[in-house]
Amino acid sequence: MDNSTRIALLPGDGVGPEVMDEVRPCLAWAEARGRRLVLLDLPHGADHCLATGETLSEAVFLELRDRCDAILFGAVGDPRLPDGRHAEQILLRLRQDLELTVNFRPCRPVVVGSDPTIDIEVFRENTEGPYCLQGTTEPGRAVDFAIHTEPAVRRLLEAAFQRAAARGHSLTLAHKANVLKHGHGLWMRVFGDLLALYPQVVAKALHADALLCALVQDPRAFGLIAADNYLGDLISDLTAAYNGGMGVAPSLSWAPHHPFRCNALAEPVHGSAPDIAGQGLANPVGMFLSTALLFRHLAWEAEALALEDAVAGALKAGAATRDLGGQLSTKAMGEAVRARLS
Ligand code: NAD
Ligand code: IPM
Ligand code: MN
Repeated sequence: MDNSTRIALLPGDGVGPEVMDEVRPCLAWAEARGRRLVLLDLPHGADHCLATGETLSEAVFLELRDRCDAILFGAVGDPRLPDGRHAEQILLRLRQDLELTVNFRPCRPVVVGSDPTIDIEVFRENTEGPYCLQGTTEPGRAVDFAIHTEPAVRRLLEAAFQRAAARGHSLTLAHKANVLKHGHGLWMRVFGDLLALYPQVVAKALHADALLCALVQDPRAFGLIAADNYLGDLISDLTAAYNGGMGVAPSLSWAPHHPFRCNALAEPVHGSAPDIAGQGLANPVGMFLSTALLFRHLAWEAEALALEDAVAGALKAGAATRDLGGQLSTKAMGEAVRARLS
């Protein structure tokens, strides 16, 4: 039987293909170290949608779900498709229909000038909340529904409690149960259940508004932060700011209950950055660090550490793209990182 790991590459739009090009050689590097890999390059994104009318066909979705182990994703979003339907039907669909409940967004500063004592991990629920995309627009009235289900909330919080217990870190739940009595009320109930099961974890729930103020004032007081899809999206962009901003932050999504063969989607936290796309200005570090998270998920720990060390070493030596105050192009930054991989 073929025991290769099958990874689908979806570069997407804007800076997505630019940062994806920088990590492709890392996959070849892993192969040269003996990892057996089969890569599937997919064109889906705005260009493909405009040329063919297709976002993600059922056949491609099933190929990803049942015949791939993981997806490496760039970014989606294009001003020519302002309703964002391809982002919904590609990225949000993959997160939801692969049931990738956990979106892990760590912030461990490595950028020069950042505070290396910060160590925050955001556990964002990745499939529900307002991302159910159900609502209506009527004259003078607009409605967006948010759905929260106990299985997904429990899966996300269990993963967060397990990680907090394993790392000996505190866990904070971000919520607005004082207003969102139904949805966040459910989160509070499940959080309470798990609190009793993990007495070794120092855990508390904070109103998200107060949490954000405390997070800006004293980031070192935080360990893990668990949040629903919407709050987690906002909180993880804030924590990205502690480590150089949007170009640096990585993420990995997975399904703890393992419903399908494909059980990992690695993607930088940033979007397609149309303001800098096509100019060689994008920072590939978020994409490199997401690839390292994917390597770790595949239990390729040595490769994950080597890639993280290569990024940290390049930054420490002064390699930086414009967003980090440097002069390097996307490609030159990619080369600076890869030159440190042995
Ligand atoms: P964005 O993350 O694309 O850009 C925000 C800011 O960060 C911009 O100033 C941009 O230049 C900068 N930036 C982003 N990535 C960078 C990188 N690698 N290096 C240097 N600077 C970088 O967010 P936005 O402008 O709000 O959204 C643009 C499009 O991307 C929208 O269509 C949005 O829906 C989409 N989006 C997609 C994803 C995703 O695919 N996961 C995530 C966020 C936004
Ligand atoms: C992200 C993005 C997406 C989200 C958008 C593009 C739908 O902001 O991956 O963080 O809101 O999840
Ligand atoms: Mn976001």
